[in-house]
Amino acid sequence: MLQRNLGSSGIPVSAIGLGCMGLSEFYGEPMQEADAIKLLHESVELGINHFDTAEIYGQGRNEQLLGKAFAGRWDEIVLATKFGPQRDPSTGAFVGIDGSPASVRSSCEKSLTRLGTERIDLYYLHRVDPNTQIEDTVGELGRLVQEGKVAAIGLSEADAETIERAHAVHPVTALQTEYSIFSRDIEKDILPTCVKLGVSLVAYSPLGRGMLTGRYATAGDRPTGDNDFRAQAQPRFQPGNFENNLNLVEAVKRIASQKECDAAQVALAWVLGQGEHVVTIPGTTKLTNLKTNLGALNCSLTDEERTTLNALEDKVLGARY
Ligand code: ATR
Repeated sequence: MLQRNLGSSGIPVSAIGLGCMGLSEFYGEPMQEADAIKLLHESVELGINHFDTAEIYGQGRNEQLLGKAFAGRWDEIVLATKFGPQRDPSTGAFVGIDGSPASVRSSCEKSLTRLGTERIDLYYLHRVDPNTQIEDTVGELGRLVQEGKVAAIGLSEADAETIERAHAVHPVTALQTEYSIFSRDIEKDILPTCVKLGVSLVAYSPLGRGMLTGRYATAGDRPTGDNDFRAQAQPRFQPGNFENNLNLVEAVKRIASQKECDAAQVALAWVLGQGEHVVTIPGTTKLTNLKTNLGALNCSLTDEERTTLNALEDKVLGARY
């Protein structure tokens, strides 16, 4: 498996990791625990060592799941989790973001307990708290590093200025943000800032939340259901936008079929080809899709194919959120 080092930490991770959110929440029914643990173990056997969770995924259940799956095996993997967004424990509704030093510390302690480990390899601020100075949040994260509770720190969905300010307090190892053929807004300021500072980019939703895999053929395939965040809240998955965006995926499928690749592989090859500082964490609940995704490492794109793919984003309808 192709490995890349995370930022200046030197932590090597598989270029393709596993985004674990969908195992517990947001993309339909959660997986049965035994099936999810099996998938996590199979992922390691296939060479994946980078697993990404967050305290909000399944309101702690996703971290507990990874804790069960990787008990006694922490040295085989790089575990990333995140804190900040707050949810109402009874309804699950999002009620704000808390990046205060007290929240940094208490969230970390709770994540360590749920995971059943003594150290988080990569600890991210999941969303920037508009009411806390980033220097204060990162100052406390730096203390967790000194204490050995966290090995490296990251930010998620932060702008270029915030990354610079954070990095001045403590080295930021990774920025996690959405990045795909359909979501390239970070290329203007954020990605160049990451390159300048030696911060790795961890690209989430590299498959456009499934859309870029070609799995949806017609308007009737639109995800539905109260427990599917795409159906409920994703502009790109709403009627009208969805059909337009599916049409754009045809170009991805065409390139894939010419190369005897899968559309998902083209989407991931595009992300990984953006530079050595980029790794990605597609999410899947299925072993067969996981194997397909790993096949992206054998799929390389020509400049001409990249140019075709680069022209798609402008035509996407619907904001990222
Ligand atoms: P996120 O980072 O938010 O998880 P993503 O990686 O862009 O988003 O896409 C995840 C979605 O793509 C999931 O709905 C996943 O569905 P399964 O659990 O059914 O696999 C889907 N997906 C991932 N790999 C896929 C593949 N190779 N073919 C089809 N769908 C795939």
